Amino acid sequence: MVASPPDVHVVDDPAIAIGELLAEQAKRGGSIVLTGGSSVDKAYEHAAKLTPDWGRVAVWWGDERCVPPDDDNSNYKLAKESLLDNLETEPGEVHRIKGELAPEDAARELDDALAGAELDFLLLGLGPDGHCASLFPGSPQLDVTDRRAVSGPPGLEPWVERVTMTMPTLQSAKRIVFIAGGASKADAVARAFGGEASHDVPASLTRLADATVEVYLDKEAAAKL
Ligand code: 6PG
Repeated sequence: MVASPPDVHVVDDPAIAIGELLAEQAKRGGSIVLTGGSSVDKAYEHAAKLTPDWGRVAVWWGDERCVPPDDDNSNYKLAKESLLDNLETEPGEVHRIKGELAPEDAARELDDALAGAELDFLLLGLGPDGHCASLFPGSPQLDVTDRRAVSGPPGLEPWVERVTMTMPTLQSAKRIVFIAGGASKADAVARAFGGEASHDVPASLTRLADATVEVYLDKEAAAKL
């Protein structure tokens, strides 16, 4: 598969760089897709400080863990505490994935809600196994092309069911932006953004999109690129 080369930025602190990009997009308005993971809360806090008015933004999540919204594993909770609760003007739309529902029902709701939606800015983290959103290497969910969202089992911790946008949905975003930091991500970064696109490394498949994939890394994560 012929994948476009990504636009790689090696920066001191990817969270600060991503916070700035989110803040700029929030000023412009449009739809912003958030991610979970360990590296984004600082980016969300920074974005809220820079642009406290998200009134013109529709917020989505690329994936969710199937837990209630007040559970510590909830991607919604992470974004609520680091971003939404720190805003002066809340987003015009908040499309929370309902992790408390049966996974198939939450996925169907997300699939329906996405009908006709355009995604302006998609933020993704990168798993050490090369996954993005909740599309894990070798999982059948990775091959779904006739739905905008699906449910499926986890490929990594936390071991709870997931709901995720499908690869064609991720690829449809006008801007696709990855954040990754730390030496534990260096192998995955090299496989996702250095080589060809492959189903073994789900994040690499985003490089088949029309948009040029933008990647924000620290030195450690970029070490093997
Ligand atoms: C999730 C995320 C997931 C995450 C990566 C990276 O629900 O876990 O949406 O795709 O972005 O796993 O997460 P870490 O930064 O914690 O490794």
